[in-house]
Amino acid sequence: MSKISSIIPNSIIIENLSKSYNQSIKSKSNYIIENINLNLKGGEFFILLGPSGCGKSTLLNIIAGFIQKTSGKLLINNKDVNKPGRERAMVFQHPDDSLFPWLNVKENVEFGLRMNKVNKEERSAISNKYINLVGLAGHEKKFPYELSGGMKQRVQLARVLANNPEILLMDEPFGALDAQTRRIMQRELIRIWSETKKNIIFVTHDIQEALILGQRIGIMSKSPSASIEKIYNVNFPYPRNITSSEFNEQYENLLADLEEETHLGLKEKVIRIGGGHI
Ligand SMILES: Nc1ncnc2c1ncn2[C@@H]1O[C@H](COP(=O)(O)OP(=O)(O)O)[C@@H](O)[C@H]1O
Ligand SMILES: [Mg+2]
Repeated sequence: MSKISSIIPNSIIIENLSKSYNQSIKSKSNYIIENINLNLKGGEFFILLGPSGCGKSTLLNIIAGFIQKTSGKLLINNKDVNKPGRERAMVFQHPDDSLFPWLNVKENVEFGLRMNKVNKEERSAISNKYINLVGLAGHEKKFPYELSGGMKQRVQLARVLANNPEILLMDEPFGALDAQTRRIMQRELIRIWSETKKNIIFVTHDIQEALILGQRIGIMSKSPSASIEKIYNVNFPYPRNITSSEFNEQYENLLADLEEETHLGLKEKVIRIGGGHI
């Protein structure tokens, strides 16, 4: 009894998790990620921030159950996990990787529900709800080729939400969008999260995006042997004001940490600071 009451719904516990894509070579540098530790309670909006190639997608794919960890622990709802499950869903960077081009918006959103034998009326009610939620009402009959990148990404999000996973894994989902659409999607995601209280792990290499979205931000060091070096709490309220002094202060802290991790050359630092970050 005491064991059951101690279970946190949608919790994700990761302990000393490591991954090597080549297990035949037993050298230390062979680990892409090494000794990752992370403890998420249900309903959190957690950001994984790190330099390109450090192993963010690798970690997310392990949590999704798409690839296997080499060692360590991954517990979801206190259960060992090593394959995909209906409580988890991934939103990929490129919606074209997941949308079916021969299905229209509504059919794409209903796809998982159909696979799960949800009846027609219920399917339609659920898909309408999520199509509305992502702001795509009126576009139900359009096919992916008739949609902009931002609209396709919304379809992917609606489809994932329609399946009602408790845990959303998002791998740089807005990375390919233009700045304006990205802002809109970020706002919508905050609204969806605050309405549904899903557990979200959102991967990005963009500090501003991390600070706009996250309650906590985990900073990954670069690979090989990448780990989560530091976790920041972002305590100021939503919507985050990107021109506020607290936002900029946290931005500078994160930038300093990331630069330490990536060992950027002076030239790149000057361009990034000179180019502005707002
Ligand atoms: N399937 C794979 N086989 C071998 N190496 C891989 C595979 N997937 C990723 N890697 C390597 O793992 C490292 C981390 O990749 P990835 O997890 O995609 O990083 P990120 O998402 O942070 O950019 C990279 O060096 C990449 O080349
Ligand atoms: Mg990646």
